Amino acid sequence: MNDKERGIDAEALLHRRTILKFIAGAPLVATFGFVVSPLFRYLKPTMKPGNFFQAADLPKVEQLVRFQWADFPEIWTCIPFLLPKTYVVFNPEGHEIRKTPGFIVRTAKNEIVAYSRICTFRSHQHRQQQPVNFLMNTAELDCIAQSKNPVLYCPCHCCLSTFDLNDNGRVLGGPAPLSLRRMDVVFDGEYYIVTGLESDGIA
Ligand code: FES
Repeated sequence: MNDKERGIDAEALLHRRTILKFIAGAPLVATFGFVVSPLFRYLKPTMKPGNFFQAADLPKVEQLVRFQWADFPEIWTCIPFLLPKTYVVFNPEGHEIRKTPGFIVRTAKNEIVAYSRICTFRSHQHRQQQPVNFLMNTAELDCIAQSKNPVLYCPCHCCLSTFDLNDNGRVLGGPAPLSLRRMDVVFDGEYYIVTGLESDGIA
């Protein structure tokens, strides 16, 4: 075997070693990927595999809900509505539409505000959705926190959390840990449009 042949043999051996190293290392890389992928999915929930650079799969409002000033003839007019939102889920369509119940209210200051009706106690503690009701005069129900103003209260049989409509849905009484979640309302000159839930809430 001359020098040239020896050189070709050594090069082939090096090439084979590189391929073997790659084959041996692939399971390690795959295992590392499986271990860290739940962390990425926790930080940025997404259904698409390897979707590290696109937006997380957050719910999107499917249809805006509109009201006019004439819908609120007097102070404390309170109108129930449903806000449809599309959620990305594991089903044949890849999504489903869920409707969040809300109330839109004309306050004593003639502002139009909207709240999610989902009680923050139930949703926080038990992951179930208990919608609150409107009550104009708290004297009608002596088992809830009393107020000079109308309230939203949770009819849950034991707890009866009460929320102040005159103070951003603040908890007046009961076990609810957080104020009701506000919804975004935009006035376009003609319509009051509910565009979505304010961020950083839980209900
Ligand atoms: S679920 Fe709202 S107070 Fe019980």
